Amino acid sequence: MASMAQPVELLNLAVSVARSASELASRMRAEGVSAVTTKSTATDVVTAADRAVERHVREQLARARPDDAVLGEEYGADRDAPVRWILDPIDGTVNYLYDLPQYAVSLAAEVGGVVVAGVVVNAATGREWTALRGGGAFRDGRRLAVSPETDLGQALVGTGFGYAAERRLYQARVLAGLIGHIRDIRRLGAASIDLCLVAEGTLDAYYEKGLNPWDHAAGGLVAAEAGALVTGLDGAPPGPDMVVAAPPALHARLHDRLSELDAAGGP
Ligand code: IPD
Repeated sequence: MASMAQPVELLNLAVSVARSASELASRMRAEGVSAVTTKSTATDVVTAADRAVERHVREQLARARPDDAVLGEEYGADRDAPVRWILDPIDGTVNYLYDLPQYAVSLAAEVGGVVVAGVVVNAATGREWTALRGGGAFRDGRRLAVSPETDLGQALVGTGFGYAAERRLYQARVLAGLIGHIRDIRRLGAASIDLCLVAEGTLDAYYEKGLNPWDHAAGGLVAAEAGALVTGLDGAPPGPDMVVAAPPALHARLHDRLSELDAAGGP
């Protein structure tokens, strides 16, 4: 019965759907970005491809598992159900618009409110990260482990910025208080990929305020299954106020610095 699926079956479905979604995104990119409109602010873009990819994923999921719920960036939530899919059809839409090869389909399966499986596919490169709760994280079949770095002063830290000017200004002030205490910062433009880079140790750590569930559901599981702590600040779970992902020793140091800077505060 469809609704009794095991996490591994959900992951297998997620992977096959995310792969075909990624092919659609990359085909549409090659044909040229169209129907660019804006959402929350004049710089928060959505393209015809974001919508087409989300519709494609919803159709594939509905065919395989008609009783499940879907929460997607472009079309929102549909219903309540024991299994819920969390989808960002194109995470890194601004990169997609500019043809910077850092945008991804991000798809997670949640059972009873807990993310149990996740896949992130970089649609520009085909690189694929997967994770199963309790089953580890993988990139293209290779098991992942976080960076061994423990010194915040040596850490390469990813972050991102929201679309609203007041939030970005606040985020920039937090960054000004951090950047003298780390190796350097990277703003790559797709939160789901940033989290997967923490999983493989390509980034030592990542933090961002203002993420939505579709930005971090799949990548957060990938990072956690590779050994990262993925939290909010001061005991909060990862969420819109803050997502911090890093290997445990580094996490403690980055967390405390972000907490001192009130990185979860502001607009
Ligand atoms: C955005 C990207 C970006 C992050 C923003 C997200 P979108 O998602 O993940 O890296 O900094 O907070 O909103 O809009 O490209 O799907």
